[in-house]
Amino acid sequence: MISSTMMAMTQLVTQLVFLLVIFHYSIATDTLNPNQPLRDDQALISGKEIFALGFFSPGRSKNRYVGIWYNKLQPAGQKTIVWVANRRSPLSGTNGSLELNGNGSLTINSMIFLPMPMVALTNPVAQLLDDGNFVIREANSSEFAWQSFDYPTDTLLSGMKLGWDLRTGLNRNVTAWRSYEDPSPGSYALSIDLEGIPQANFWSGSTKKWRSGPWIGIQFSNAGEQPSNYGLRFDFVHNKDEVYYMYNTTGTNFVRRALVDQSGKVKDFVWIERTGRWNHFLDYPINDCHEYSKCGPYGVCNLDVWPICRCLQGFKPKSPQEWPLMDTSSGCDRLTALDCKNRSDGFMAVTIAALPETLSTILYTNISQNECRDRCLKNCSCTAYATANISGAGLGCVIWVTEIIDLRMSPNPTQDVFVRLAAADLASISNKSSKKSQSKSVVLIIVFSMVALIIPLIYFCSWGKKKMIHKDVRGNGEFELAQLQWSTLMEATHNFAKTNILGKGGFGLVYKGKLAEGREIAVKRLSRNSTQGIDEFENEVTFIAKLQHRNLVRLLGYCIKGDEKILVYEYMPNGSLDPFLFDKEKGDHLDWQTRFHIIEGIARGLLYLHQDSRLRIIHRDLKASNILLDIEMNPKISDFGLARNFGDRETMIKTRKVVGTYGYMAPEYALDGVFSMKSDVFSFGVLILEIISGQRNRVFLSSPHLYLLGKAWRLWNDGKGLDFLDPLIGNSFSMTQVMRCINIGLLCVQEKPEDRPIMSSVVIMLGNDDAPLLEPKEPGFKAIFSPKHDAALNQNELHTFNDITLTEQTGR
Ligand SMILES: *[C@@H]1O[C@H](CO)[C@@H](O)[C@H](O)[C@H]1NC(C)=O
Ligand SMILES: *[C@@H]1O[C@H](CO)[C@@H](O)[C@H](O)[C@H]1NC(C)=O
Ligand SMILES: *[C@@H]1O[C@H](CO)[C@@H](O)[C@H](O)[C@H]1NC(C)=O
Ligand SMILES: *[C@@H]1O[C@H](CO)[C@@H](O)[C@H](O)[C@H]1NC(C)=O
Ligand SMILES: *[C@@H]1O[C@H](CO)[C@@H](O)[C@H](O)[C@H]1NC(C)=O
Ligand SMILES: *[C@@H]1O[C@H](CO)[C@@H](O)[C@H](O)[C@H]1NC(C)=O
Ligand SMILES: *[C@@H]1O[C@H](CO)[C@@H](O)[C@H](O)[C@H]1NC(C)=O
Ligand SMILES: *[C@@H]1O[C@H](CO)[C@@H](O)[C@H](O)[C@H]1NC(C)=O
Ligand SMILES: *[C@@H]1O[C@H](CO)[C@@H](O)[C@H](O)[C@H]1NC(C)=O
Ligand SMILES: *[C@@H]1O[C@H](CO)[C@@H](O)[C@H](O)[C@H]1NC(C)=O
Repeated sequence: MISSTMMAMTQLVTQLVFLLVIFHYSIATDTLNPNQPLRDDQALISGKEIFALGFFSPGRSKNRYVGIWYNKLQPAGQKTIVWVANRRSPLSGTNGSLELNGNGSLTINSMIFLPMPMVALTNPVAQLLDDGNFVIREANSSEFAWQSFDYPTDTLLSGMKLGWDLRTGLNRNVTAWRSYEDPSPGSYALSIDLEGIPQANFWSGSTKKWRSGPWIGIQFSNAGEQPSNYGLRFDFVHNKDEVYYMYNTTGTNFVRRALVDQSGKVKDFVWIERTGRWNHFLDYPINDCHEYSKCGPYGVCNLDVWPICRCLQGFKPKSPQEWPLMDTSSGCDRLTALDCKNRSDGFMAVTIAALPETLSTILYTNISQNECRDRCLKNCSCTAYATANISGAGLGCVIWVTEIIDLRMSPNPTQDVFVRLAAADLASISNKSSKKSQSKSVVLIIVFSMVALIIPLIYFCSWGKKKMIHKDVRGNGEFELAQLQWSTLMEATHNFAKTNILGKGGFGLVYKGKLAEGREIAVKRLSRNSTQGIDEFENEVTFIAKLQHRNLVRLLGYCIKGDEKILVYEYMPNGSLDPFLFDKEKGDHLDWQTRFHIIEGIARGLLYLHQDSRLRIIHRDLKASNILLDIEMNPKISDFGLARNFGDRETMIKTRKVVGTYGYMAPEYALDGVFSMKSDVFSFGVLILEIISGQRNRVFLSSPHLYLLGKAWRLWNDGKGLDFLDPLIGNSFSMTQVMRCINIGLLCVQEKPEDRPIMSSVVIMLGNDDAPLLEPKEPGFKAIFSPKHDAALNQNELHTFNDITLTEQTGR
């Protein structure tokens, strides 16, 4: 009796639950029929339950959009949206409905939002397929009358075409969302452009940021050295009907998506089953040399030398004053003008990574290399020629009729380009190269000049002799670290006028200067009687000259005259991050987007220092005042005076001399003098929390509860993370992003170094909204208040110390 009642009840409950699930979980079907609208609380699920289509709101936004997302791959419960139907026209309430009309047109609340089939269908159905394509077709046919793949938003999925249907004029490109909460088209776009030889271009508004180069059979020529294609199939179709790029993951066992995101990058994501998250493994542009026309006309970009730009042989920098100072975009000029009429010109073979930009080219198919050369010689506009196996054209000859740009060097260059040169220049080149292989000698000159620069400094510094260094450390080339004349710098800074002082750097005053040609510079003058400063000076020259990254400040040149030792940097119009965060009077408050951009930039700069550069460097003095901001508010890490290079095997160093800045110092370093990459990670975590809160991490020894890390930790645990946010940020921020940043900040400041993430994980966690995050453990601030430390500092309140870099003298 009892058991049968129980059974009845169980059945009832099961049915109820089932009904609830059905009700909540939408129509568990993949098709939409006419007059069966899809309501806001319903979703279509593709046959194998891979994709779902329905209504969603991005981030904190209340707007409703119709979109497609991965049905099961939802890291941390977050939808990964791959397509948005009404990206420009959101709905305001949850009363929306998606409907298929009897003639085969889709409407949302009776409005048409995308171009729909031109011809009315008689018996239409709409279906969500397992590749993420939403299609409309006649019920009795498999041919698509319309498909969402023809109207991509910011994501390119396997099987989606990027490019043109020339018959209909349809141009499929992917455009970033405006922000994480607004899917309407932003400024970054990836498109296939037909001008010249078709290629993919990455745009920021109307500025080209990167180009893929023409397709050469297996990949785009300028796409960089692909580590492996992991079984992916890439296709580029170029015929009279269509020009498009497509990839195909069928036959591999992983899920991949390509995304153009708000930060101005083309990103590749792969789903990692083991970790249950998206891993982001390639960014375009990949590095500085991939930036469009980085070195200007006839300039070659090579990451393996410093500076990375140099002129082709037979050319000289167009503006010699600018060139050593790294403004290389003006490029190079011929040493000797061409002499077309006399037919005396010849060609120099250059082997580079990919064809130069092909916008102004003439393409001849099916001609020999000799014929190609003749056609170039006959045309007085021709500057270079090359042969290449170009998709859609076969083995062809390319002739450039303007200056050639976007030349890139790689470890294994494969593309020969023949550059037209005047006879005189060719003769002098062949004279030189008869002695040495030309490309080698260029590298050697650079290596020699670096050694020549560093050896005298070391000599000078370690012996401390008052000896003038007259030696011109420049080699014969025109592209070394510039040695500037004392008189030039005196002039540029008005004799180091007090009014030109920008601030105090690690080892001396920093002045603003202006060179005769108008370029602004920052001039760091080593204090004359600072012995410790000499070490830092040497440090700075050694490290920073070898490092190049968009998030590190650039050293342009130096000057040594008598006791004077001077470093010249690019000028950062926006100064340091410190006043932007902490000077509440300043008025230039940073919005959330900018703050996030700054956090990401610092993370990338630090990742480069720790892992990606040829050296392995620990900065040791990361803090807001050492982050400089350029005109576009891009952050640049500066002040390498305390930086240390780590050997390949070393993971940590113990020192008796603790240097750095209180407030940013990791506990194990402040207390025991042990530093490692993880102590930089700690400082970075403090910086994140300062950037979010707009408050300094003051060290009030008397009142630990005021300590910023403690405050962040308390609010986080109380679930009031948003209370930590700087009120000056206002209302336009992404809540998920803020919470992620606090989470990451707290992970970085954990007490135990081994708990803190390495920078590559930090970059992935920041760049990928879907990456799951660990729960942080308590920050390492308690140790700071240990009696030992208190006694050592013998001071009650130390907040005045916060922005003072402790040097080896003042350290304990
Ligand atoms: C949906 O609701 C909004 C307000 O929430 C209203 O403005 C709109 O007219 C409604 N649309 C329909 C189709 O009922
Ligand atoms: C289908 O119907 C909608 C409105 O009901 C109309 O706007 C559209 O033009 C029609 N399409 C065709 C191909 O007739
Ligand atoms: C589909 O049905 C329509 C009429 O509803 C008919 O005209 C058409 O021929 C059919 N197509 C196929 C492939 O059966
Ligand atoms: C992807 O490749 C598979 C075979 O590996 C093929 O069957 C399928 O049609 C391809 N998809 C597209 C969209 O070309
Ligand atoms: C992308 O496509 C749209 C529509 O076809 C077009 O208006 C826009 O100019 C394209 N953008 C680029 C960068 O090609
Ligand atoms: C050119 O590339 C295609 C693949 O796109 C290849 O099939 C063909 O053999 C190549 N031709 C030559 C001459 O290398
Ligand atoms: C052609 O060459 C001759 C001698 O080789 C030279 O004198 C003359 O200036 C050249 N003509 C031009 C247009 O450069
Ligand atoms: C290429 O040129 C050769 C001779 O110059 C000719 O025999 C051949 O048919 C041409 N091929 C094509 C595809 O035009
Ligand atoms: C020479 O180059 C120009 C472009 O500057 C082009 O218009 C012209 O057709 C070319 N001449 C020949 C013979 O190919
Ligand atoms: C090349 O070298 C030869 C002798 O080694 C010399 O006579 C000639 O003038 C040189 N030419 C140039 C252009 O430097």
